[in-house]
Amino acid sequence: MYNSAPKPQSFRAAAREWRNNRIMRRREAQRLRRVAIMDELIALQHLKRRAGLSGRSERVMDENKEGNEAPLGYALVTGASRGIGRAIAVELARWEVPLILVARDIAKLTSLAADLVTCYGVKVCILQADLAKPDAAAMIHRTTKKAGLKVDVLVNNAGVCTHGELVESNPSDIQRMVQVNSGSVAMLSHLYGKDMKHQRRGRVLFVSSVVGAVPAGPGVAIYAATKAFEKALALSMSRELEKNGIGVTVMCPGAVKGTEFAKSSMTESAACWKLPFYPRSAPEVATRGVRALLAGDPEVYPGWQNR
Ligand SMILES: NC(=O)c1ccc[n+]([C@@H]2O[C@H](COP(=O)([O-])OP(=O)(O)OC[C@H]3O[C@@H](n4cnc5c(N)ncnc54)[C@H](OP(=O)(O)O)[C@@H]3O)[C@@H](O)[C@H]2O)c1
Repeated sequence: MYNSAPKPQSFRAAAREWRNNRIMRRREAQRLRRVAIMDELIALQHLKRRAGLSGRSERVMDENKEGNEAPLGYALVTGASRGIGRAIAVELARWEVPLILVARDIAKLTSLAADLVTCYGVKVCILQADLAKPDAAAMIHRTTKKAGLKVDVLVNNAGVCTHGELVESNPSDIQRMVQVNSGSVAMLSHLYGKDMKHQRRGRVLFVSSVVGAVPAGPGVAIYAATKAFEKALALSMSRELEKNGIGVTVMCPGAVKGTEFAKSSMTESAACWKLPFYPRSAPEVATRGVRALLAGDPEVYPGWQNR
């Protein structure tokens, strides 16, 4: 009777079994993740094929007569004139997603739009807006509605940072940071999120920062607070809209080289720019962000050091 009872496992065998199970679970999670990304890829390829593999977004935007699924609408990217926003616009153009580029510098937007039309054949609209103004988000939304542009992807990228102790800061700098990084982001997400919920389709990407995810050092109190706001907003919105088939992603990059951010925020002397292998390039960050956006992942942290 006692011989038929299962033998107690040795500690070593139990540990091996636990490790094997963990590896299997990880592999399965990775497989599912790949499937999710592949689904998006296939859906986009399908759209391209149905549009005649043209690479011409005018045709992509034409109403589809055979199927019942409408083609992908525009991606609105704020802060697209340079840096990470520009790189995200280029990455989306590579996916042949038609674009609406928003920033203050109209000359840079015009030049980027011309390049994207020439290189990728996508349809690109540009819109000059100052997101430091409280009514900017409503103006952008009104303008795109009036022009009949359907926005399926919103990228909240524009952001500003002014380095300095909070108590010594200029009140106008504080207001600008709060409005650009938080106020306009919340309003754009509200307005376009509502449209997406109605259409039961869409993607939103928030470009936050690691300083919004971990306790930040001195000199960036308001910036870090606005980035934490963005992260909290994104994660909550992601839970609210997932039942409607809308993916909301927050990207938290660390230092990103090749942008004007370090100079404009006066943080050039900060240690994060000098750490070996730490700063990432804008195209690398953009690729990670767009991938996560298409997969509908809630969070993405470019750079292994930030995981
Ligand atoms: N670079 C980094 O190390 C880093 C790290 C983590 C997170 N981030 C975040 O990534 C985002 C992009 O940063 P970046 O490195 O690309 O910075 P950047 O090179 O300074 O670009 C900022 C972009 O935001 C736009 N912008 C600034 N103020 C604006 C306003 N009032 N109205 C409309 N657009 C405005 C700028 O366009 P105009 O000047 O033409 O308006 C520009 O296109 C920001 O949200 C930033 O917080 C950056």
